[in-house]
Amino acid sequence: MNASRPASADFARGLAGVVAGQTAISSLEGTLRYRGYAIEPLAAAGDFEDVAYLLLYGELPTRSEHVAFQGRIAAAARTVDEAVIDALARLAAREPHASPMDALRTGVSMLGQVARDDAPGTRADLLARSERLIGQVPALLAAWIDLTAGRAVAPWPDGPIAAALLARLTGRTPPPEHVAIFGTTLVLYAEHEFNASTFAARTVASTGSDLHSAVTAAIGALKGPLHGGANERVLELLGEIGSAERVEPWLHEQFAAKRVVMGFGHRVYKDGDVRATLLGAMCRAMVRGTPAESLEQLADRVERMMLDRKSLRPNLDWPAARVYHALGLPVKVFTPIFVVARMSGWTAHVIEQVGDNRLIRPTSIYAGPAPRDYVAIAARGD
Ligand SMILES: CC(C)(COP(=O)(O)OP(=O)(O)OC[C@H]1O[C@@H](n2cnc3c(N)ncnc32)[C@H](O)[C@@H]1OP(=O)(O)O)[C@@H](O)C(=O)NCCC(=O)NCCS
Repeated sequence: MNASRPASADFARGLAGVVAGQTAISSLEGTLRYRGYAIEPLAAAGDFEDVAYLLLYGELPTRSEHVAFQGRIAAAARTVDEAVIDALARLAAREPHASPMDALRTGVSMLGQVARDDAPGTRADLLARSERLIGQVPALLAAWIDLTAGRAVAPWPDGPIAAALLARLTGRTPPPEHVAIFGTTLVLYAEHEFNASTFAARTVASTGSDLHSAVTAAIGALKGPLHGGANERVLELLGEIGSAERVEPWLHEQFAAKRVVMGFGHRVYKDGDVRATLLGAMCRAMVRGTPAESLEQLADRVERMMLDRKSLRPNLDWPAARVYHALGLPVKVFTPIFVVARMSGWTAHVIEQVGDNRLIRPTSIYAGPAPRDYVAIAARGD
């Protein structure tokens, strides 16, 4: 037997609990920390560019570095290659109901092609490409929404990503309190250690492939409902339940059918997700006294029952979906907004992986048929 293969039949399904590497980008012990900074003050500040810079460069920016970084991100958002927009326009005309996640995955892949990104390059190259992607991806999302609505692509507004993207997606200048909580969601979604999409990005990067290929794979991984796709399912399920009295029968149905309830549970956080606690409190405060409050009461009842019956607590997608809904955003952009935010974490991880690379290539235990003789096609019958 090859020396690198496991001798026993033991393995961790879904790699649960497996330590797959080291990272200096974030840690989940105690509370979530980005580069050593606790998530609580970062979330309260809600400054996405500050956090994106921290994740990429390892330190918080000075005021002038912050201004320059924000300027480069906004410039990237304003200069998305026309060839990519044209191709998306053709796709939007043909498939206006296609998922914006597919549009982002395709768009990022095309950006890599027009940028001729076909190798990791130096650390400086990777940082420059990362910054461009962090700016271009929200612009691609806004462009796709315009194109599928049959509108010309509107210009990208000035200012930080949170304000600009919210304005582009809602079609109006958002009030400062909306920008603040939207910025907080971007900060909370920005980075989360070795989750499935980040691990996908690192795996692609570990083969010596380029940054755009790595994040294209990550977008595909994030789309799944067990990962980023959960935030869209959360709002759908709240709509399906409809009223507080329906919570109990609806949950019983899910439990009886052994269906997972989206927005609850987490592979790593078994005693609750700090991000959900932080954003849940902000969400409740934001909607107090507004028509959205009734949805909060319903959500609160689901939360209590999930804890009582299943000992399961909400993850970040649970409050994020309600915040996005309260901000007037359509469900189809919820997971793409997660992409916009996580682009910062993904690119930081690719840079880290490239900086100290070893091919990611685990092994498996064979569980198929016993060895058997090949039968030529002529001897196999009809
Ligand atoms: C996130 C998730 C994939 C983690 O999966 P995991 O680590 O494999 O979960 P576990 O194996 O520790 O789950 C333990 C038990 O709780 C159940 N469970 C976990 N999450 C559940 C949920 N959201 N609803 C109902 N039951 C759930 C599992 O079915 C399992 O039950 P069993 O022991 O009877 O088989 C899972 O919790 C889930 O599917 N959640 C819903 C999707 C979601 O919100 N994703 C976003 C994650 S940030």
